[in-house]
Amino acid sequence: MDKRPIGILDSGIGGISILNKVEKLLPHENYVYYADSINNPYGNKTKEELIKIIDRIMLVFLRENVKLVIIACNTASTQVITYLRKQYQEFLFVAVEPAIKVAYDYHKEKNTLVMATPGTIRSERLMELDKKYHQKKRTLLACDGLAELIEKDDLEKIPIYLENLFKNIEKDSIEVVVLGCTHYPFIEKEITKALGHEVIFVDGSNGVAKRTKYLLEKNHIENTQNSEGRLSFLLTDSSKEKIITKYLNSI
Ligand code: DGL
Repeated sequence: MDKRPIGILDSGIGGISILNKVEKLLPHENYVYYADSINNPYGNKTKEELIKIIDRIMLVFLRENVKLVIIACNTASTQVITYLRKQYQEFLFVAVEPAIKVAYDYHKEKNTLVMATPGTIRSERLMELDKKYHQKKRTLLACDGLAELIEKDDLEKIPIYLENLFKNIEKDSIEVVVLGCTHYPFIEKEITKALGHEVIFVDGSNGVAKRTKYLLEKNHIENTQNSEGRLSFLLTDSSKEKIITKYLNSI
């Protein structure tokens, strides 16, 4: 029995899409969610800037005595996870990354669009995934500013943003969309509308939930209490409380 919490971080509200899945699979665990909205977007930051920001969050997680850290942000995971694993060996880490492997495993023959932040799209990790898992057709699309609109709950601007974003792709032929940023699962409906037809969405949240469970069991650090776990928030911008409540348990 290990009651220490699981730490989850993102550049704001995006990681709630991960938290929702993890909590569903592991309801007895305690969680501390760190929403770093003040530093949003991470998607336009350099690796060095991200390391500086996330180092500070790791200090908070050390103070909170977390037993496992979930990097619920594709941008941070693809760029700094190697550094974090080396630097903070006291933590177990689970990192989300664009679900290119899932798209490859289940939809090899389908035309796939990968949507992610500029930082994720240009990361070495994404290049590796793109090379390793070869699908019939795959388009990588940097969505500069999209996570920011979602973070600010500026939903009325999203249809026009997506219309511009999709201007140069063959929308009709897209069959699978990889949501490579944890903010994007909240706008599946808007993406479907902008593409003009139904698509299959994939993201990394199920993989993160399963991996978290596996690591807790393997290291014998599950929380076996009967009651539901506690969830607490650390917000760098307290005005985000409302939007967090809106998305909590929404998907
Ligand atoms: N939610 C994050 C991701 O998964 C980052 C969005 C941002 O801050 O740019 O990439």
